[in-house]
Amino acid sequence: MELHLLTLTIFCVLASAFPPDVLSALAAVEDLQLPNIDAALDLSKSRTNCGPTPCGGIFNAKEQYVPTTGKHAYASPAANQIRGPCPGLNAAANHGYLSRSGVTTLPETMTGLGDAYGMSPELSAFLAAYAIITNGSPLTGTWSIGGPPPSSGGLLGGLLGGSQGISYSHNIYEGDGSIARNDAYLNNGDAHSLNITRFASAYATGLANDRYTLDGFAQDLLSKIQESIATNPYYFAAPFSTTLVVPVAYNFVINLFSNHSAAEPNGYLDGEMFKTFFGVTGDYPNFTWLKGQERIPENWYRRPSSVPYGIPNGFLDVAINFQAYPGTFRLGGNTNGVNTYVGIDLSDLTGGVYHSSDLLDLKSSNAACFYAQFVQAVIPDAAATLLGELSAILNLVNKWIKPITGSVKCRVIGRYDQTLFNKFPGYKYKPKGQATNYRE
Ligand code: HEM
Repeated sequence: MELHLLTLTIFCVLASAFPPDVLSALAAVEDLQLPNIDAALDLSKSRTNCGPTPCGGIFNAKEQYVPTTGKHAYASPAANQIRGPCPGLNAAANHGYLSRSGVTTLPETMTGLGDAYGMSPELSAFLAAYAIITNGSPLTGTWSIGGPPPSSGGLLGGLLGGSQGISYSHNIYEGDGSIARNDAYLNNGDAHSLNITRFASAYATGLANDRYTLDGFAQDLLSKIQESIATNPYYFAAPFSTTLVVPVAYNFVINLFSNHSAAEPNGYLDGEMFKTFFGVTGDYPNFTWLKGQERIPENWYRRPSSVPYGIPNGFLDVAINFQAYPGTFRLGGNTNGVNTYVGIDLSDLTGGVYHSSDLLDLKSSNAACFYAQFVQAVIPDAAATLLGELSAILNLVNKWIKPITGSVKCRVIGRYDQTLFNKFPGYKYKPKGQATNYRE
């Protein structure tokens, strides 16, 4: 299939794809593996800052303007307010789109991230549900955008090791190879503080014309992964955190931090905005990080609510990156020091039900089917949790995680062979946090 026809097919599929049932629509098309790497590169470079589906020329100043005054005025976090590894969440909390305490709920996440960035409710809810189940407090329905809340003492809730917050969710939510955060092992477990050198190399991708793109960031992802493999003996790409969340975060920068205008309705991101959202000042390469001071720029317009960034967009952008820059797809890790990377095939992990190629497929239903099930696979471990907590967890799964596959009939995974991970030293590395990130 010729590229323009293929691109058109993808766009048509996705255009019809938004609610009610995008994944059923995707399931109806053939597997979408691009014919060769040149075609994948062309598709990657053709993306606008609205992602694979352009924002359709829509610009509505009133609807897209994001207020930064009044109740949404910027305030730096106080000593007892928590911030963490995610600039999108930190900036939202600093402007009161999420609770300024840094401990939030699922409904507040849905509303706040929709209002601030145009993230779709089902994507926000999925991300928040996973945070509550794994590193938050299922009983109270809360989760921390940084380290453990002081009141929890790390004892309350959280399926996988207490209410640690996302700062200390290594290999569960947070992973290696991030844009501007260190690999946890290389920084004594701190993967939430910004590293200026890493920020500068991402910044360099847009220096030439002061514009940042999905393709430029895909290239930065590739070089950050190569750096991790070459410097971090504990580099480990776990199925959800490092295989998916880390690459998705690169795409969030372009899709959700871009400013939209009548002249550029698909959005554009320049260096000033990139620095503002990341709490960075100075000029390349002499930057300074202002800890916890991520901001939403003044006079900034988010993507239209009618074209939100949702789960299908997320999978498609990641799959395009994987196909255009194959080294960005990682499931595996270093086995015996640096530069000893060994990959594992998804097929071995899932008893042959899914294959790694399913995660590279532009048809996102296979990836959604795998991730929806993988996330649920942590549930049996809940035997050790309180009874009330288990039912709260199941409620979150049924309401916000299972539905990401729509009405698609997913291939069912009978069992996971997680012993495959034992050969990776990084698999067992689980740093735990202090009470808040910014308390010295
Ligand atoms: C419930 C919603 C969200 C959750 C649970 C979440 C969680 C996370 C986590 C765990 C990380 C660390 C991943 C890593 O190791 O690199 C991260 C990074 C990141 N997130 Fe979010 N996030 C959410 C929403 C957003 C939004 C709305 C944006 C943008 C508007 C965003 C932008 C980013 C970026 C750019 C990074 C990479 C930071 C860096 O490497 O310096 N996230 N997020």
